[in-house]
Amino acid sequence: MAKEGLEYTDFVETGTEPEDDELVCEFYLKHVDDVEFDWAAGAVAAESSIGTWDPNLTTMNEEIYEIGARVVETESGNGNEGVVTVAYPTPLFEAGSIPQILSSIAGNIFGLSEVVNLRLEDVRFPPEVVEAFTGPALGYEGVKERVGATDRPVVGTIVKPKLGLRADEHARVAYESWAGGLDVVKDDENLADMEFNGFDERVEKTLEAKREAEEETGETKLYFPNITAPADEMKRRADVVLENGGDYVMVDILTAGWGALQEIRGYVGDEVGIHGHRAGHAAFTRLPYHGVSMLSVAKFARLCGVDNLHAGAVVGKMEGGREEVREIYDFLRSDWGVETTIPVASGGLHPGVVDNVVEILGSDTVVQAGGGVHAHPDGTRAGARAMRDAAEAAGDGVSVEERAEDSNELADALDKWGTE
Ligand code: 3PG
Ligand code: 3PG
Ligand code: MG
Repeated sequence: MAKEGLEYTDFVETGTEPEDDELVCEFYLKHVDDVEFDWAAGAVAAESSIGTWDPNLTTMNEEIYEIGARVVETESGNGNEGVVTVAYPTPLFEAGSIPQILSSIAGNIFGLSEVVNLRLEDVRFPPEVVEAFTGPALGYEGVKERVGATDRPVVGTIVKPKLGLRADEHARVAYESWAGGLDVVKDDENLADMEFNGFDERVEKTLEAKREAEEETGETKLYFPNITAPADEMKRRADVVLENGGDYVMVDILTAGWGALQEIRGYVGDEVGIHGHRAGHAAFTRLPYHGVSMLSVAKFARLCGVDNLHAGAVVGKMEGGREEVREIYDFLRSDWGVETTIPVASGGLHPGVVDNVVEILGSDTVVQAGGGVHAHPDGTRAGARAMRDAAEAAGDGVSVEERAEDSNELADALDKWGTE
């Protein structure tokens, strides 16, 4: 039976409550002058579920209409803008597929001509949807335990310069970093399989350097080789990592794509960690009035099984305000039906700010510095020592200045970069 006379506003049922098993999205919406707020809100619900520009389809029926999304709450602000809450029945979603979910709730709606701006601020996933995903393998406690950093943040570095070092030079810098005291060494986001630094050779040599550093220090170290590539090649690179004794891979989750990330999670199995780099996120998370929030991105990443996620640092060179970043950190470490994800603070950090990062974001984090290690006046090993000493001080609740009295490397770092 056709559902006669259907309009976008029929998708607005404000005053009703979302069901516990529905997925709920909160959007910021701004629309053009010649439509009403409710019309635009209804358009968002319709177009992200079952509707189209003339929702009065001859092919529509009551049963289909029942699984349509509904606007359950609106809060109109000044002029043509406001907040819209939309509830989605779960039959709209394919279990365990982030690409399908996003093609619905973060798809065509951003391009509707009556919509001037739209931002997906938050998504509440019902347990049934969350549990259809694999989730992370290790959880934040697992990451911390792997390196024995239970009472301090995990500390790491990104080999710098971003690009240009040969594989053997890369491995040497990694060795110096671990030997100096860091837990983690990672590739940079744009380092893949380069003419001057082939992936296979780099992984072989860097994992060899890792074993050397582990023997010398008696500590477990982690290496995050960036396997980002088309999906098949990512799998081949993951094989290379595993064959050489590695137990972690790094994926640039947004440039590689959600489907590829899910494929890798399944492929590497639940003993292998995935470090998720968010390069490119700011293209859609940065504007406060358009795009997709970083909190939403963090939820998608955790569902897909990212163990470590770049989530902002508040201090340092990257944008992201204190409240927003804390909310993301709290979410990543909260109970949710899949394992937790450890948040990664990175970008423009140095030993002098490690205590600030821990004070704002807590010590269940990975704190990383590139320039803040390799630009230490005495080189990488001293920079690594300074970062480790700063992390231990933060874990002990001691200021970096106080710890610097017993650490020349930290004192030199503070002289160079200060504590802000
Ligand atoms: C981020 O949080 O996106 C970073 O600052 C960039 O990460 P990287 O420092 O490890 O490359
Ligand atoms: C980046 O790409 O931003 C980094 O890997 C972080 O490096 P930095 O600590 O030198 O800013
Ligand atoms: Mg980087």
